[in-house]
Amino acid sequence: MKFVFVLFALTVIAAVNGASADADWEAYKKLYGKDYQQKSFGGQSEETLRKNQFLKTDAAIQNANQDRNNKFKQDHNVFSDMFDFEIAALMGAKKPANEKGSRPTLMTTIGRENRQALPAILDYRTHKCMAPIRNQAACGSCWSFASINSLEFSACNKTATKVLTPLSEQHLIDCDLYDNACNGGWPTNAWYYIKTNNGSAKAASYAYSSATCCTTSCCAKKTCKYTASMLGAKVSNYGYVGSSSSNNTALVMQSALLQYGPLAVAIATAPSFMSYKSGVYNDVACDNKTIDHAINIVGFGKTNATECSSGTDYWIIRNSWGTTWGLLGYGMIQRGVNKCSIESYPMAVIAA
Ligand SMILES: *[C@@H]1O[C@H](CO)[C@@H](O)[C@H](O)[C@H]1NC(C)=O
Ligand SMILES: *[C@@H]1O[C@H](CO)[C@@H](O)[C@H](O)[C@H]1NC(C)=O
Ligand SMILES: *[C@@H]1O[C@H](CO)[C@@H](O)[C@H](O)[C@H]1NC(C)=O
Ligand SMILES: *[C@@H]1O[C@H](CO)[C@@H](O)[C@H](O)[C@H]1NC(C)=O
Ligand SMILES: *[C@@H]1O[C@H](CO)[C@@H](O)[C@H](O)[C@H]1NC(C)=O
Repeated sequence: MKFVFVLFALTVIAAVNGASADADWEAYKKLYGKDYQQKSFGGQSEETLRKNQFLKTDAAIQNANQDRNNKFKQDHNVFSDMFDFEIAALMGAKKPANEKGSRPTLMTTIGRENRQALPAILDYRTHKCMAPIRNQAACGSCWSFASINSLEFSACNKTATKVLTPLSEQHLIDCDLYDNACNGGWPTNAWYYIKTNNGSAKAASYAYSSATCCTTSCCAKKTCKYTASMLGAKVSNYGYVGSSSSNNTALVMQSALLQYGPLAVAIATAPSFMSYKSGVYNDVACDNKTIDHAINIVGFGKTNATECSSGTDYWIIRNSWGTTWGLLGYGMIQRGVNKCSIESYPMAVIAA
């Protein structure tokens, strides 16, 4: 009798779980406009594969959110039902073997001896020179977004009243001879191109047109349409940030953020990064991976101490995956431990 009851109870639980997974999937599709039964999608066969992927991501999210070592939370977003090869196509940080401009260095003024001069918190997210979050969508153009964010901030901050002129990622995608459009690139090469080819176009005159690139196999470079009348900003200097008075990379990066504005950096991503929602990202899964994604660092801080922990140092990062990723498009990642290799390639630019 007892056995029968237990069996019955388990069946009910399984049915409820199955029903709730179905409901979650239906709600997810609706929220992200992924109506796989429509003509533009692949119908029932695609729906089945996508649902499996979604359920896999769902299980990973629930696991990670219960892991007490994680200082961050995960949630669903547009990536939840994407296949690995689709995610891989978004990763466009490709460090060139021979960088243009022979590994230039930008020195910072604050070193070890005046560490006290650094503020505890810096947050450029609400600065007048910080553009709204953008979305690279289905194109491995993160390198272009990271390059442009640093440059447009620097150009804006040079103006007396802090007037932001959004600059064009598409210009770099179509014209930059030293990078590879939706197949990847690298910020120092992009800035070299801008410096030696008469500037960066305004976004208003050279709009982003690569949002569906990798789904329509048009990843190759398109025709360069840049003309002098589109000019929005020029590059004066750029490079990897360094210091003659400190070998503490994280400290030098903090100093460079104050001196030059948002940094462009490369990181190694793990699947959990795709589902990042809030908190300080500290997953060990990215530690031994190869860098593959470019983002910006736009600030730093430390979480408040609690009874059981002394607080965690973090970088504030800016992604180019729209506002549904992370904290309205931004995020936090552990600082001072080269988490996901974020302190390996810190780059900055100065607008002319
Ligand atoms: C840059 O502008 C100068 C002057 O207008 C022109 O002579 C030169 O060809 C331009 N360079 C490139 C790479 O377009
Ligand atoms: C940085 O490291 C290099 C090589 O280890 C060393 O020669 C140099 O003295 C260090 N500089 C400072 C400021 O600590
Ligand atoms: C921005 O400009 C102000 C002057 O208006 C200057 O004090 C500050 O250092 C600049 N910040 C950066 C990151 O260039
Ligand atoms: C990463 O590599 C180091 C050195 O090879 C190793 O000690 C560490 O356990 C690895 N970490 C992970 C998360 O695999
Ligand atoms: C951290 O502490 C400061 C005051 O020291 C407080 O203003 C802030 O709201 C706290 N932040 C969080 C996330 O609790």
